[in-house]
Amino acid sequence: MIKVGIDTIAFYTAHYALDLADLAAARGIDPNKFSIGLGQQQMAVPPPGEDIVTMAANAALQALQFIDPNSIEMLLFATESGIDQSKAAGIYVHDLLGLPARCRVIELKQACYSGTVALQLALPFLRQFPDKKVLLVASDIARYGLNTPGEPSQGCGAVAMVLSANPRILAFDAEYGVVTENVMDFWRPNYSENAFVDGKYSSKLYMNMLEKAWQQYRDLSGRDFSDHAYYCYHAPVSRLVEKAHHYLGKVNREKLSDADVAQHVGHSLTYARIVGNSYTASLYIGLASLFDFAEDLTGKRLGLYSYGSGCVAEFFSGTVQPGYQTVLATAHHQDMLAKRKTLTYAEYEDFFSFKYPDDGSACDMPVHETGQFRLASIADHKRHYEKVT
Ligand code: CAA
Repeated sequence: MIKVGIDTIAFYTAHYALDLADLAAARGIDPNKFSIGLGQQQMAVPPPGEDIVTMAANAALQALQFIDPNSIEMLLFATESGIDQSKAAGIYVHDLLGLPARCRVIELKQACYSGTVALQLALPFLRQFPDKKVLLVASDIARYGLNTPGEPSQGCGAVAMVLSANPRILAFDAEYGVVTENVMDFWRPNYSENAFVDGKYSSKLYMNMLEKAWQQYRDLSGRDFSDHAYYCYHAPVSRLVEKAHHYLGKVNREKLSDADVAQHVGHSLTYARIVGNSYTASLYIGLASLFDFAEDLTGKRLGLYSYGSGCVAEFFSGTVQPGYQTVLATAHHQDMLAKRKTLTYAEYEDFFSFKYPDDGSACDMPVHETGQFRLASIADHKRHYEKVT
């Protein structure tokens, strides 16, 4: 069967971050709760004018370097932070990037899972049309609200992947395990800017669904735990991923030490610890992290776990392709993160509390540090984006 998978991958996050030690101080909480209890050090904070469109366009600009835009036949935009109930956010990205008119664009939603369904819908298409490419972007802003238990697990980011036949980075296996159940662990009604969540229940479901999706995948693929050199998980907080991996070991009668868990998932969490949750983008920023930090992964099989509350969970896998290092955006990622500005607690609260107009009135966005695209203004209920010169 023809190989299909990730040809290029790049991520983008806001140019501002809050140290969770500063959040802990503002909340009167022991900072070890966040650094050890949740495994998180910082969270990315979007300034006014940075939204899912600007983040996605900035990630995609990097992923599309050296790719012929005319080969992009489809743009799939995964998000749970939608800015419009009708118009797909991907259409703005399509315009900002100058993609060809002959290109399908659609937005997909199922909490943090929709990046994975976009991927799984693209793979058979690429097998059928191996000369075409698909641009998959996943972009989200995780918001729970000030002074809520979920607050230290906020963050934001976008990932862009060009998917193709004969991919240069990762070729996916055909088998997958997938589970859907109607549960209320995390949701965001249309009228709310912040998510509602039953945090403990959601963490329990994350584990239960991992076991179910894994068992299905294992039965269908005939692969064992040890057939995967590294694992990459959706990462709401890093500590949950480490716990989940210990649990997956137990399900497979493997007693994993903390060092084993660090070896299997540690590299995939390097960015997550300082970016925070990025919902749909999280699993794939984890993948970029693994590629950027692990030693030579050539020929290694990776196990991937995607979880979207509500819920759909999927376990799948892929093999890293020879020469993958030459296509990575490692230096770009690290430069972007090194240049981030650290916010004071008061600045974070200002950014968080900024209100976008919802009555049709005109608003020029304050200018903040962004990538190459920003939301310039909103007027007559329309968003106007611009390229930063
Ligand atoms: N030093 C070290 N550790 C400490 C500590 C201290 N001083 N104080 C507390 N801790 C530890 C606790 O012992 C606990 O560890 P264990 O889990 O090992 O028992 C850990 O810190 C967390 O503390 P709490 O149990 O008090 O949990 P919390 O109220 O802080 O909630 C959370 C944690 C549920 C993740 C919360 O941040 C939350 O609701 N986040 C949003 C929802 C979420 O991320 N869910 C994850 C699964 S759902 C999903 O995957 C989809 C998605 O992206 C949302």
